[in-house]
Amino acid sequence: MLRAIHAGAEILRHYFEGTFEIQSKDTLNNLVTEVDKKSEDAIIDVIKSEFPEHFILSEEVGELSTSSNHKWIIDPIDGTVNFAHGIPICCISIGLERDGQMVMGAVFNPFMNELFFAERGKGAFLNNKPLKVSANPQLEIACLVTGFPYRWAAIETDPIPVFERFVRLGLPVRRLGSAAIDLCWVAAGRFDGFWEYNLNPWDVAAGYLMVEEAGGRISNFKGEPYNVYDKQTLATNGKIHEQMLELISR
Ligand code: IPD
Ligand code: CA
Ligand code: CA
Repeated sequence: MLRAIHAGAEILRHYFEGTFEIQSKDTLNNLVTEVDKKSEDAIIDVIKSEFPEHFILSEEVGELSTSSNHKWIIDPIDGTVNFAHGIPICCISIGLERDGQMVMGAVFNPFMNELFFAERGKGAFLNNKPLKVSANPQLEIACLVTGFPYRWAAIETDPIPVFERFVRLGLPVRRLGSAAIDLCWVAAGRFDGFWEYNLNPWDVAAGYLMVEEAGGRISNFKGEPYNVYDKQTLATNGKIHEQMLELISR
């Protein structure tokens, strides 16, 4: 996993702030670059060379399905819009699912030199140092992060009223532009909570394990156990989870 993530990172570093081809996907501002595809190829090459029989789900190529009980879930650049604008808040995210359970995850932001890594039952780490979620029990002084979709027509749940509720409490609510980094920064105690609607498994696979292994809580907007194929993501330090759930579901 680490070899794969470093192979992708080398490509991101090479192209960052340089010239590369950018295309729109389903909407004008949902971008994909040639760097996403090159990073993806490099990551998949490493994984396939070691585990040719494993199942791969990766954002740009989709499913390379096999009957294996191991599934690699890959986002070759999370925060592509940031990357395309030269904003160094982006990363590569790789999660490994075994028998339907996320067992290992890595998220690497090569521009901040931050490598997050988690293994089920063994903890979460930032550059090899153990991670712990924040201890703050009060929503009133929480620092939060969220994200918004690029495609509003298709969305059943308008995220603005929820956003407004938190902002009207006078809370600092950030929008970094990379869900994988948002989750890792909850795991690191930088944020007390993160919520977003309509994410994909590659956005959350690794970050989800990071939050759990750092002692946080992650659920859907009803407070039910999370799985990475859910469309509702609420990740917190655990202590403000119920308060955030109440505001989100109101
Ligand atoms: C996006 C980022 C962003 C989130 C979007 C995602 P991408 O992923 O995670 O923070 O708000 O919903 O699509 O397109 O940069 O891989
Ligand atoms: Ca993504
Ligand atoms: Ca992506």
